[in-house]
Amino acid sequence: MPRLRLAVLVSGRGSNLESLLAASREERMDAQVVLVVSNKPAAPALDVAASHGVPAKVVPSAGLDREEHEAQLAAAIDAARVDLVVLAGYMRVLTPAFIQRYHGRLVNVHPSLLPAFPGVDAQGQAQARGVRIAGCTTHFVTEEVDGGPIVAQAAVAVPPGADAEEIRRLVLDLEHRIYPATIDMIAKGKVRLVGGKVAYSGLTPTGLRVITSPEVGL
Ligand code: GRF
Repeated sequence: MPRLRLAVLVSGRGSNLESLLAASREERMDAQVVLVVSNKPAAPALDVAASHGVPAKVVPSAGLDREEHEAQLAAAIDAARVDLVVLAGYMRVLTPAFIQRYHGRLVNVHPSLLPAFPGVDAQGQAQARGVRIAGCTTHFVTEEVDGGPIVAQAAVAVPPGADAEEIRRLVLDLEHRIYPATIDMIAKGKVRLVGGKVAYSGLTPTGLRVITSPEVGL
């Protein structure tokens, strides 16, 4: 089986892109990044792509309406014969037409345990709410922002007194592990979107571990 061909859409720093490139290189993920697209010409993620020798393209969104911008985006994705479109810090809401076009082939990572804290600054929202367990979620993208079928989640205990920055750091470390794992499951056919729900097959049973915060010795 050829490896899954990924287009990674970015707008900013690119640390998730970096983790996907590392997982691909180290063969922890049965997929290869064939294209990086940024809607921001100055995104540091473009340097990440360049340093790994991955083709990268800027499709600027500024000044274009969504349909126009997405037509260019889709043309770039389709020209690269992409199997899966991977949002990694892509800071632009996609139109229903674009989401439909890549139905079941479009995934995102969100820095909270959805359905808690959708939208921007999820980690800040979590800190303000005083959550004791934080985490991240990978999901197929549907028209509801951060509301698509969940593929995987990872959680971490929030140390008492942690500020938003610390939560961001803890959650980002989880993102870097669960996103490549999610894409590997999709590449191996262990995860599919069927009738609007995620169907799993051939997975190792999840171990029963209890996370508490503060630590209460359960
Ligand atoms: C990540 O926290 C991701 O979950 C969110 O935006 C951030 C992107 O970070 N959607 P990076 O560009 O991958 O470093």
